Amino acid sequence: MLDIRIEKTTNPKPIPDESDPLVFGTIFTDHMFVMDYDTEKGWYDPRVIPYQPLSLDPSAMVFHYGQEMFEGLKAYKAVDGRTLLFRPNKNIERANNTNRRICIPTIPEEDFLQAIQTIVKVDEAWIPHKEGTSLYIRPFIIATDPYLGVRPSNTYKFIIILSPVGAYYPEGLDPVKIWIEDEYVRAVRGGLGEAKTGANYVASMKAQDKAHEGGYSQVLWLDGVERKYIEEVGAMNIFFKIDGTIVTPKLSGSILPGVTRDSVICLCKHWGIPVEEKKISIDEIYEAYQKGKLEEVFGTGTAAVISPVKELKWDEHIMEISGGKIGELSQKFYDTVTGIQLGKIKDELGWTVEVK
Ligand code: COI
Repeated sequence: MLDIRIEKTTNPKPIPDESDPLVFGTIFTDHMFVMDYDTEKGWYDPRVIPYQPLSLDPSAMVFHYGQEMFEGLKAYKAVDGRTLLFRPNKNIERANNTNRRICIPTIPEEDFLQAIQTIVKVDEAWIPHKEGTSLYIRPFIIATDPYLGVRPSNTYKFIIILSPVGAYYPEGLDPVKIWIEDEYVRAVRGGLGEAKTGANYVASMKAQDKAHEGGYSQVLWLDGVERKYIEEVGAMNIFFKIDGTIVTPKLSGSILPGVTRDSVICLCKHWGIPVEEKKISIDEIYEAYQKGKLEEVFGTGTAAVISPVKELKWDEHIMEISGGKIGELSQKFYDTVTGIQLGKIKDELGWTVEVK
């Protein structure tokens, strides 16, 4: 159990008005959680302090070799007034897998959860109430040794910041258009693709620019070796409904194991809907489309929740999905996941954790 020191701000910021749109990732609450690490002391000095800039040596290793990890989860104001987290242990487990992959010391799961609970409790008043809004929780760790040689750092900072958010995409729940990228790749097996680290996201930016120029919101990545098998969208995992079966790429080592991805798979099993995690090629998707069997496409992610797709562009081929509308199952997944998160639907799978 951490002994967390709490220093409250003497200069609180105004909490955004519920009638103003909450643009994703632009507003930050009054406080942040910070904990330091060095090889002698381990993780030490856990504290909640006023939200403030960091002071770091310009030679801090994070700036040069990108040794950093992050997570994303959300706190919700439930209809009965409780504050709920959604499957935080899945994020914490994944955070420590990322840490192991990029040589950052792990954090005991119960300490990680306590840190999240504590900072959310301190800034609980910032959790928005409106439909489609939540408090986005962004834990991250950075390497802070002032050193220019390449090796894992001996010192780190673990920080959690909070941001009240609305929908990730400006489209909201409206279906998005996706560009299938066959020039650039995001990750390869054995690389960092399954870790939640900034390197994967910077690798995606060039293709994302290309997609935006073509009028597409996101990039769907193909595998880095054959450029043939579907991987993920970068800010979300991808699902297809083909002839009544829900299909998603099997975790291959280069795909992020999303918490919402796992939740959709669990819901399919719970409801008795056929679901397959398998290696799936873009040719199979195009063939299903041509035969009229590609019934729905949607992305899943903490930020994106369930994001229906209305168009896929692959080379010269344009695939129009569900007549441009939200597919029936996509809507059902959205309603169920958000219903559980907001305490509107009975949490039969035991996914929510109350912040007390
Ligand atoms: C999340 O869904 O939480 C993510 O981390 C994706 C991020 C690119 C916003």
